[in-house]
Amino acid sequence: MALRIFTVFILAFSSLDRGLAAPAGTKVARQDSSGSLLGYNPANGVINQDTDKIDYELAAGQTDAATVGAYLDFNNVKNPQPIRGTKGGTDPGPRTEEYDKLNPDKLAPPGTDHGSVSNAEWPLGLSHMKLGLGGAGWSRQQNVDNIPAATEMAGVDMRLEPGAYRELHWHKAAEWAFVMNGSVRVQAVDENGRTFVDDLSAGDVWFFPAGIPHSLQGLEGGVEFLLIFDDGSFSEDNTFLASEVFAHNPKEVLSKNFALPLSAWDNIPPGELFIFPGTAAPKDIEAQNITGSAGLLPVEDSYTYHFSKAPNTHETEGGTVKVIDPTTFPIASSFSAALVTIHPGAIREIHWHTSSDEWNFFLAGNARIGIYAAQGNARTFDYHAGDCGYIPKSMTHYVENIGTDDVTFIEVLQADHFSDISVGQWVGLTPAQIVQDTLNLSDETVAAFKKEKQYIVQGAVVN
Ligand SMILES: *[C@@H]1O[C@H](CO)[C@@H](O)[C@H](O)[C@H]1NC(C)=O
Ligand SMILES: *[C@@H]1O[C@H](CO)[C@@H](O)[C@H](O)[C@H]1NC(C)=O
Ligand SMILES: *[C@@H]1O[C@H](CO)[C@@H](O)[C@H](O)[C@H]1NC(C)=O
Repeated sequence: MALRIFTVFILAFSSLDRGLAAPAGTKVARQDSSGSLLGYNPANGVINQDTDKIDYELAAGQTDAATVGAYLDFNNVKNPQPIRGTKGGTDPGPRTEEYDKLNPDKLAPPGTDHGSVSNAEWPLGLSHMKLGLGGAGWSRQQNVDNIPAATEMAGVDMRLEPGAYRELHWHKAAEWAFVMNGSVRVQAVDENGRTFVDDLSAGDVWFFPAGIPHSLQGLEGGVEFLLIFDDGSFSEDNTFLASEVFAHNPKEVLSKNFALPLSAWDNIPPGELFIFPGTAAPKDIEAQNITGSAGLLPVEDSYTYHFSKAPNTHETEGGTVKVIDPTTFPIASSFSAALVTIHPGAIREIHWHTSSDEWNFFLAGNARIGIYAAQGNARTFDYHAGDCGYIPKSMTHYVENIGTDDVTFIEVLQADHFSDISVGQWVGLTPAQIVQDTLNLSDETVAAFKKEKQYIVQGAVVN
C-alpha cells in the first residue's frame, strides 16, 4: 500500500513538473538497485576539499587571549570568523554575514562566556507588526514567546499617526509607558468614577493600573511609545476593547442597559478597531476635561509623570542616570526605572538587582551586556537601537557602549524603589584581607577600589 502511494506521488509530481522533466528518450540516472550508494563501498572514494581555503581578516583584539574579551568590531572586516585568541576556528559554511556583524559576541564570544544563559535579547525588528486600520499606526511586541526567561515583564512598541487612536480598552496587566517620539493625549476613568486627561511629550511616562479603562490618541505630529506590562505573557492581541464590548453583547441587552432604542446600535463597528484613524484631538485639553460627581483623579494619584522635565539623578564623566520610581510617581507602585545615557567608551558598572528582573530597551546606540548567571554560566549579548533586553534578578550585568555615539536605554524593574548592588562598591567596602584572600589581588589593586557606586565609568582600557 505504502509503495503504491509513493508511485502515484512520483507520477503526479513528474507529470506536473514538466519544466524539469528530462526530454523524451533521455536516460535518467537513478539510484543503483543493488544499493551501492548505501554505506561503505570502496568504489565511492572520499573527496578531500580544503575547507580552510577561505579569505578572511581578523578584527582588532581578536588574537588577544580569549579572556581579555574586548568587543570585536567586524564592520570593516572581511569575512568575520569565530576565533578568539587560541580558541575557535574558521567557518566555511553557509551564513548571513549581517548577523555576525550585528552580534560579534555571538560569533566570537569572550573567553569568559561559559555554559548556558537563557536568551536575553530580542530585536523588535524581528517582531511581527500588527498594522492598524486606515494608515493609523502599528504595534509590535516582545513577550515570553521570544524571550522565554522574561516572565515578569513584556513590552510593546506602538505608533499612532496624528489623530489616530489606540481604542478605549483595558487589560489584566498594569501598563507603564515611556513616550519615545512626538506627543499623545491619554485619558482614563477609574473604578470610583474619577477622571483623568493629560498630554505627554517624548521622555514622559504614564501608568495605568490593571483593569483601568483608557485610550490614547496621537497629537499633532503623531507619537511612538513603549509600553511595559507587569506580566511576561502579556499580548496585545489579548486586551479588552470597547468595540468588542458593544459588538459582543446582544443589542437587546445594550438597549436595556442604556435605556435606548435598538436603533441606537445600528452603526456600531462589528468588532475590533484596535488602532484606527480619528478626529484630531481638540487643541484645548479642557474640551475633554469631563468630570462626574467623584471629580478628577487627585494629583497624588496622577496616571502621568512629566519625566522629560525631571533632572538627572546621577551625572558622571561617563554618562547620566535619571531615575523614576514610586517615590516620585506613586501610582506606579511596582515600577521603578532608569533612563541611562552612556558615552562612547564608557560602561554602566557591573551590578545586580536584589529583588527584580530587569526589562530594558535600547533607544539609541550600540552596546553589549555580559550576564553572569551563577554555576559558572555567563554569556554576552549585543544590542542596538530598537532591541529589548531582559536580565533575571540577581544576575550580574554591565552595559558597555561599544559604538561611537551615546547609548541611551531604559531599564525597568518591578520594585518599589530603584536600587542595585554595585560589584565595585561591594568589594570596596569589604575588608581588604577578605577580598585579597578570595581573589588573589595586589595591595595596589584593592587600594584603588572605590567605596561609592560609580554608576557609569568612563573607562579607557588599561594594558
Ligand atoms: C525618535 O526617538 C528616538 C529615540 O530617542 C530617536 O533616536 C529618533 O531620532 C526619534 N525620531 C525622530 C523622528 O525624531
Ligand atoms: C480639569 O478641570 C479641573 C477643575 O474641574 C482642573 O482642576 C484641571 O486642571 C482641569 N484640567 C485637566 C487637564 O485636568
Ligand atoms: C596568587 O598569585 C601569585 C602571583 O602570581 C601566585 O604566585 C600565587 O600562587 C597565587 N595564589 C593562589 C592561592 O592562587
